[in-house]
Amino acid sequence: MKILAIETSCDETAIALVEAKGGLLNPKFYILNSLVASQIKIHRPFGGVVPNLAKREHLKNLPLLFKNLKPKTQNLKPDIIAVTVGPGLEPALWTGINFAKNLKSQISNLKSNIIGINHLEGHLYSFLLEQKRVNFQFSISNFQNLFPAIALIISGGHTILIKMNSLVKYKKIGETRDDAAGEAFDKVARLLNLPYPGGPEIEKLAKKGNPNAIDFPRPMLNQKNYDFSFSGLKTSILYYLRDNKNVKIENVAASFQQATFDVLIKKTLRAAKEFNAKSIMISGGVASNFSLKKNLKLRIKNEGLKINLFVPEKKFCADNAVIIAIAGYINYLRKKNRRLTANGNLNI
Ligand code: KG4
Ligand code: ZN
Repeated sequence: MKILAIETSCDETAIALVEAKGGLLNPKFYILNSLVASQIKIHRPFGGVVPNLAKREHLKNLPLLFKNLKPKTQNLKPDIIAVTVGPGLEPALWTGINFAKNLKSQISNLKSNIIGINHLEGHLYSFLLEQKRVNFQFSISNFQNLFPAIALIISGGHTILIKMNSLVKYKKIGETRDDAAGEAFDKVARLLNLPYPGGPEIEKLAKKGNPNAIDFPRPMLNQKNYDFSFSGLKTSILYYLRDNKNVKIENVAASFQQATFDVLIKKTLRAAKEFNAKSIMISGGVASNFSLKKNLKLRIKNEGLKINLFVPEKKFCADNAVIIAIAGYINYLRKKNRRLTANGNLNI
């Protein structure tokens, strides 16, 4: 089955064409083409994403990406079109939805409908791309042995912990009560006069600093729930910078990063132990942080846990349309369809 996927929820315009087979018990993916037009440079002067600028750029980029998608693939006749309907910026989401609707009317052989996709499910299922690749085909060798699993979605807008019993049976067990992990990186970066998006900048700076230099708070670390909170941590950094002169910002970056990861890792591992998880999947922009992956791997090993860790490649942690195609395949097989209406607050 060929899936054309469109993603415009935030500041990346993305289109992908993906071939999928294997069904829910052994899904395999072959990426025919995947294009992403990043708007980072346009939003950077504003220190964050400006919704109307994002909409304007998506409108400009979508036809260009679609044109460039075609030459590489001889036969662009998708069986379904998967398009992100939320969560995200509604003016931006609408550009993708309307583009999908226009395409459907142009592609005459389209058998199936457009499938509306929850962007968070895209991140959730991105672990399916973390497999060994044979001829660019992604598949998991021991699929039956993956579950139960704990999935941690850490992006610019969300921090969600999910228990998965199978690919289609999953339940949210915790989430952030205020800022998302990525949002905390972006806000702390701003306090340190680093450009947007803050995550990669803080990671770079943190490499030169001491993660134990400053003892920033680890919010909700010892609470028995699976919720998170990062706004207090950000505020304590604000006060630290106000009250201390001549601070080494690389130490602030490293110590903030460590505090954030300590909480994310401790709660994820506690959930994994409680639910006897065989796998842990991390996804979303923050999951591309190498130090998080290294720390988590080490903690799994030190605690003697037999857990497979799945972390997608950087380009699949960040927003892209391949993950939307994957969620499209799974939703198609489940016969689950969402209304083709932008829903900025869609949850999982
Ligand atoms: O998943 P994503 O690309 O978009 C959303 O769906 O939100 O995540 C973007 C977020 C931003 O907040 C960005 O600062 C953060 O992911 N991020 C990182 C890193 N790369 C991106 N955070 C920490 N370390 C990184 N290397
Ligand atoms: Zn995302």
